[in-house]
Amino acid sequence: MIQDNLFNYKRFAFLKCALLLTLLASFAYLFDQPRINANGGTWLGYTLGTIGALLILWLMWFGVRKRQYSNEAGNLRGWVSAHIYLGLALAVVATLHTGFQIGWNIHSLAYVLTMTTIGTGVWGLTFYLRYPTEMSNVLNRQSPEQIVSQIETLDREAGKLCKNINDRLARTVSESTKQGIFNSRRSQRLGKVKVCATEKAVDILQSELTRTDSLSEIYRNQVQRLRALKQLRRYYHMRYWLELWLAVHVPLSFGLLAALIAHVLSVFIYW
Ligand code: HEM
Repeated sequence: MIQDNLFNYKRFAFLKCALLLTLLASFAYLFDQPRINANGGTWLGYTLGTIGALLILWLMWFGVRKRQYSNEAGNLRGWVSAHIYLGLALAVVATLHTGFQIGWNIHSLAYVLTMTTIGTGVWGLTFYLRYPTEMSNVLNRQSPEQIVSQIETLDREAGKLCKNINDRLARTVSESTKQGIFNSRRSQRLGKVKVCATEKAVDILQSELTRTDSLSEIYRNQVQRLRALKQLRRYYHMRYWLELWLAVHVPLSFGLLAALIAHVLSVFIYW
């Protein structure tokens, strides 16, 4: 049996709805013969504008629904699926509503914000599809806090093991225990740390290992520390992008709501 996912949810129910809406809007636009140039002010323009505005309100309502449904995974999946397909259909509805009349005014601002919000939705979808699963896989069913506490335990062990090694190596290990997950916000964004003290300690200990057998324990300790750091780096790198795109998508959608209200009010004021 094929499992429901975001795209094929209930046998592509929302894809079908979105395609139907897109086709109906496109045919209506093609066969409509307004006395003036097609724009938001013809009967079809008003119809498409109303559908578009209702779609925007419904897409925004998802933020509220998401929190209410947090314990019902199946239903949430349906909402996300509908959000994606109907969000994309909105691009066609909104464009036809404008009748391709774009200028420097509040009406076009609402349109531009609609398209930008949809664009950020598509952008975020690329993270949203991959990262949540990868984030739980990379931590091996552990929480980031558990891995941080493993590192703390390893550092305490390293402190004891350092008493049996020469000063130079002890200093290298001590530097390594000070190495955090990232060195800067930039390194979190890139998911890489250019100069990692733990990686350096592992390399140095590995080259010394052949000469001194007693280093094997501290070497193992540093390898484990590096592995844990890499897990956390990958995890927080993905979390950074997931949080960043929502921090763009959501405020943009609120900006769109404000522009939409101004657009509708100005239409009725200058009726
Ligand atoms: C004008 C159109 C759109 C508006 C107003 C809108 C608005 C929103 C809002 C308010 C949220 C809730 C975020 C939260 O509270 O955490 C959201 C989430 C989301 N949106 Fe949109 N969106 C639009 C279009 C799109 C499109 C076209 C896509 C994808 C193609 C998309 C993909 C997503 C995804 C993947 C989420 C996150 C779902 C989750 O966290 O479970 N959005 N959007």
